[in-house]
Amino acid sequence: MSTPTSANGAYLGREDAPPGLLQIASGKVRDLYALDGDRLLLVASDRISAFDVVMNAGVADKGRVLTHIAAHWFERTRDLTPNHLLSTRVEEIPGLDPAWQERLRGRVMITRRCVPDPIEWVVRGYITGSGWKEYLQSGTVCGIALPAGLRQAERLPEPIVTPTTKNEAHDRPLSPDEAAELLGAERWEAGKRLALALYARGAEDMARHGILLADTKFEFGTLDGEVVLIDEALTPDSSRFWPEAAYAVGGSPPSLDKQILRDHLETLDWDKEYPAPDLDPAVLDRVRAGYLDVCRTITGSLPEGVS
Ligand SMILES: Nc1ncnc2c1ncn2[C@@H]1O[C@H](COP(=O)(O)OP(=O)(O)O)[C@@H](O)[C@H]1O
Ligand SMILES: [Mg+2]
Repeated sequence: MSTPTSANGAYLGREDAPPGLLQIASGKVRDLYALDGDRLLLVASDRISAFDVVMNAGVADKGRVLTHIAAHWFERTRDLTPNHLLSTRVEEIPGLDPAWQERLRGRVMITRRCVPDPIEWVVRGYITGSGWKEYLQSGTVCGIALPAGLRQAERLPEPIVTPTTKNEAHDRPLSPDEAAELLGAERWEAGKRLALALYARGAEDMARHGILLADTKFEFGTLDGEVVLIDEALTPDSSRFWPEAAYAVGGSPPSLDKQILRDHLETLDWDKEYPAPDLDPAVLDRVRAGYLDVCRTITGSLPEGVS
């Protein structure tokens, strides 16, 4: 995978690593560092990916916005599940000099280090995207049979959990049986209940702000036998958000999230494999506006220094 180069003030991370920190992994969006003991440092860069491919340019401030939104949800779901977040304060990163503190301010999560589940927990409340494509062919979504006659973007009779693999180049749908086999039946059932409860909380809150939560993805991990919500939650990177005012069945509703980029990419002659196509700055601006909009709506504020 190539390292994206800086553009438009976006922080792209990766080789641009804070001195003195041990990088243990670099995901599509976040760089992970080991802190003392059992703590991790997650730095959200401004990288953006679509179809599991990281674009060459970033979206300025996106990492700050994601961190702000995720922190909001970790607080808001504390009654449903413990989570990994310990702090978002750069001052708590041991040995980081002031210049780097400023650079990383708003992008960091100091977390408990957990063992991530080998699956991703996708919850769908509406039928769209890859789910819609599968339904057209077979009447199922990830192997779950759905009533006949659903229309594109229609609300499902009830939300469903459709797990995928993790750590493969492209996430692959898993049937409920495969997920239960990977995790054990009890963990699978408990995780499903938790994922549905988290979806319901997010959907309910967002409905009050005129946003529909079409679908979203959670990651859980374990620590000393306890199940912990990790990674990010209910952000525009991990979810599809539709403005209720523009919602209609029978098409793909306009979107306030990464879908803006996906829709643009679908108009290009690109095979969804590396190398990524170069993007028009106007597209990146539209994506940025969408992320800021969602952030304001959900949290009532923007991260410090972002406007
Ligand atoms: N508390 C945690 N403990 C261990 N791993 C975590 C924790 N929180 C998040 N992760 C992992 O860190 C990575 C986050 O980086 P990201 O850029 O989202 O990666 P990806 O390309 O896999 O989506 C994910 O692989 C996620 O599973
Ligand atoms: Mg991720």
